[in-house]
Amino acid sequence: MKRRNLFATAAAAGLALAPLGAMAQAYPTKPITVIVPFAAGGPTDALARVLTARMSEALGQTMIVENLGGAGGTIGVNKAAKATPDGYTVLFTHMGTLAVNIALYKTLPYDSQKDLEPIGLGGTNPMVLVTKKDLPAKNFQEFLAYVKANQKKAQYGMAGIGAASHLGGLMLNNMMKVDVLEIPYKGTGPALNDLVSGQFDYMVDQAVNVLPQIQGGNIKALGVSTLKRLPQLPDVPTIDEAGLKGYEVTIWNGFFVPKNTPKDVITKLNQALVAALSDEKTRARLIEQAVDLPTAKEATPEALRDQLKASIDKWVPAIKAAGVQPQ
Ligand code: MLT
Repeated sequence: MKRRNLFATAAAAGLALAPLGAMAQAYPTKPITVIVPFAAGGPTDALARVLTARMSEALGQTMIVENLGGAGGTIGVNKAAKATPDGYTVLFTHMGTLAVNIALYKTLPYDSQKDLEPIGLGGTNPMVLVTKKDLPAKNFQEFLAYVKANQKKAQYGMAGIGAASHLGGLMLNNMMKVDVLEIPYKGTGPALNDLVSGQFDYMVDQAVNVLPQIQGGNIKALGVSTLKRLPQLPDVPTIDEAGLKGYEVTIWNGFFVPKNTPKDVITKLNQALVAALSDEKTRARLIEQAVDLPTAKEATPEALRDQLKASIDKWVPAIKAAGVQPQ
């Protein structure tokens, strides 16, 4: 886990933290819309709001989050990909909508590598297997036995085909060899509310969203998706150690703009992101919520382009190998 603030090095070298006023163009001269392709109150929304609050200060203009959930995030991503490439529409999304869903949809209305330009990585999140409070399972083994025995009635929540929670749940169910009913939502913010009130049985979601409800005792955490336990949940085993050897899913989130956005606009947005990622208060808030923050080297547009390609190369064959048919 990369927790150190390595942005100090970049600042010392006068690279990424050069004053925004030094740029030739006047951009931005009006508020910037940031499309989050999931409902408010979920992990993508939470990360976007924390980062853009600090980025707005760096840019001297408000960044307004617009939540456009539905169809596993594809509606919002498509709107952002087709927007005027002037820097006033920015997308904040995760690898599910840009890489994973290539394997899960027969056709997508956008090409994530051709229609979007990366700005930079916002953070990578571990996931947690959470269940409703009164599910009769105290640990992962009991959960596995319960779901196997109740396949006709067990239900898991997710944020649509290709969502991060879909990937987490899909791989889990596949490795548990169970077939359970999917309950799709426009985001795991609303899904979490329904899990707390016991409307469905379980979900695999990003820690940033579920930690407060776990810590408040409103849902149960039975496994984490990383190969190492989380410091925030020291008593919760990894899903790998609990019995599903090789289960590992983490979710990166990043900023993008439509293709053909001017280079200097991309540079300014990246500088604002770097300012947010180097801000101690912002860092502390995100690290506390188990977000793995990128180093200065990992926060460049080029690094995000590579990350997107690596995720496509990893997850598209993995999903095919799991025998999941595109819809
Ligand atoms: C997902 O499952 O893709 C996310 O949790 C969506 C969200 O931010 O709600």
